[in-house]
Amino acid sequence: MSSTTTIRLATPADARAIAELSRREIEHGLPWRWTTPRVLRAIRGHDTNVVVAIEHDLVVGFGIMFYGEDAAHLNLLAVSPGARRRGVGSALLLWLEQVGRAAGAEAIRLEARQDNLAALAFYARHGFRTTETMIGYYLGMEDGVRLEKVLAATRSTTAPS
Ligand SMILES: CC(C)(COP(=O)(O)OP(=O)(O)OC[C@H]1O[C@@H](n2cnc3c(N)ncnc32)[C@H](O)[C@@H]1OP(=O)(O)O)[C@@H](O)C(=O)NCCC(=O)NCCS
Repeated sequence: MSSTTTIRLATPADARAIAELSRREIEHGLPWRWTTPRVLRAIRGHDTNVVVAIEHDLVVGFGIMFYGEDAAHLNLLAVSPGARRRGVGSALLLWLEQVGRAAGAEAIRLEARQDNLAALAFYARHGFRTTETMIGYYLGMEDGVRLEKVLAATRSTTAPS
């Protein structure tokens, strides 16, 4: 990652750039679901973190993670093509992973297109494993895979003696 890259929480002013990056790099070929208003709701939501990578005042990557009861769900993660293979995606993921651990999440889960070999290699490198293959998951047009990274052993329910 370049020394000029900053990883920080997104602000409402970043919402449009994030939505456009999502449409171009993640949702291509599918209806646009992560529009600017939806990204804004995620930025303002108390159960979601939106993190951005900034270079020269531009959003070059982002991640959106939702915190459920036991597990965190990585809704979206993308880096713009010109900024890839420089560790930006890893920095975003590690930032979110650390927050997930601190919040007590036992695992991070996500879905990806089965033919997205770059993403599958990226997540494998970060310790994710495939838990399920979902035929026609993307509107019946493309298959998906569910991935999981366990962060901590399940907590004991035994009361201390
Ligand atoms: C997946 C993605 C976020 C990775 O971001 P990135 O900044 O390029 O990732 P990093 O530079 O941190 O890569 C870390 C490691 O992941 C693996 N990796 C990343 N991209 C890869 C690719 N295209 N092919 C093979 N391995 C890859 C490599 O092991 C890499 O380490 P290396 O560069 O030392 O070999 C990026 O390719 C992307 O935005 N893709 C489009 C959107 C997407 O598919 N998002 C995920 C599904 S929601």
